[in-house]
Amino acid sequence: MSFNQALEIIMQISSRLERIKSSPSSMAGQRARELRAQGRDIVSLTSGEPDFDTPEHIREAAYRAMNDGQTRYTDVGGTSALREAVRQKFRRENGLDYEINETIIGTGAKQIIFNAIMSTVNSGDEVIVPAPYWVSYPDITLLAEGNPVIVTTSASNGFKLQPQELEQAISARTKWLILNGPNNPSGANYTKAELQALGEVLLHYPHVMVLTDDIYEHLLYDDRRFHTIAQVVPELKDRTLTLNGVSKAYAMTGWRIGYAGAPAALIKTMIKLQSQSTSNPSSVSQAAALAALTGPQDFVAASRKRFQARRDLIVDALNSIDGITCARPEGAFYVFPSCRDLFGAMLPDGTKLQNSEQWVLHLLDAQDLAVLQGSAYGIDDHFRISFAASDEKLREGCRRIAAARDQLR
Ligand SMILES: Cc1ncc(COP(=O)(O)O)c(C=O)c1O
Repeated sequence: MSFNQALEIIMQISSRLERIKSSPSSMAGQRARELRAQGRDIVSLTSGEPDFDTPEHIREAAYRAMNDGQTRYTDVGGTSALREAVRQKFRRENGLDYEINETIIGTGAKQIIFNAIMSTVNSGDEVIVPAPYWVSYPDITLLAEGNPVIVTTSASNGFKLQPQELEQAISARTKWLILNGPNNPSGANYTKAELQALGEVLLHYPHVMVLTDDIYEHLLYDDRRFHTIAQVVPELKDRTLTLNGVSKAYAMTGWRIGYAGAPAALIKTMIKLQSQSTSNPSSVSQAAALAALTGPQDFVAASRKRFQARRDLIVDALNSIDGITCARPEGAFYVFPSCRDLFGAMLPDGTKLQNSEQWVLHLLDAQDLAVLQGSAYGIDDHFRISFAASDEKLREGCRRIAAARDQLR
């Protein structure tokens, strides 16, 4: 056997891993960096993170923690100080009462989703994922050998799951419903009445658990009030995992701290899984997250205001481009415009434009603009633009979109 043959056998990836793909947002960011390294003037509007620095008092808390020796293992599920702060946060902001053993701290909200799905989903179990969806939900489900049941919501319903759509998607194998509002990528957010209507359906199906991903809670615009399902339908609290984190609200994506409240039995299995993967989240990051949750909150309101102004800038600019229609997102920092009206036109290489992937490749090739195809989020006639970028970059991005449209025949 040659060395290369031996290497091929050693490197064979598991069938479990073959079911999933790398996150398209990371891949697009990588591609933009490569092109930039080749000297091209790439404008990238793919970022899934605030472009602000973590507030100073949070960074200071991290320095203090390091200097005070908080550099050792903590409890796997998080320090008791941070779990208590999470408990207080849920009570203060969401009217939800969780005990300490009903909370968990993870290495990002992503790890918490991973823990929850991995520790509950058996082969063939179903997870209902409304589309458009954040890219990781289906892939984590696949990794757990579950089946994502994608329910395509419609733009005319503001990309919100309707009660009858939910009811049709539920089967005897349904394990979870995943809700996410404000939504990545559409910005849609469920009102109290909408959550109540979904809750009414769920009350008929006691075997279905709900994972609500509230990570964009604080980035909700036009004075809208945020609601989460366990608060609105208290009967569902004992089968709901309320997920949140500090990444988006406090510009802390790199610190990797997410948290959740859920029934104690579920939390216990999630901590068991975490104990055999990463153990505790970084001790220093936990100290920083504690400062974020318990310290001054003015950063949150200030960044919400800045993002709202950017949202308005980009929505107005996009809607002035022929062939592009863009709804005004209620929250998060993405717009999800439609490119459907451009389909059927001819690309510069003579092929017919038929899907969002061709459109974003054209934007990259012809105009050095990186955005993400809607197909990555389960909706093929839209594309995602992040407005976590400066006004100049947003204006330049829209100018390039208009120029790319003008290159179609
Ligand atoms: C909807 C949604 N949930 C979870 C996450 C992951 O957050 P974290 O950085 O806490 O892992 C993201 C990040 O983009 C997201 O958009």
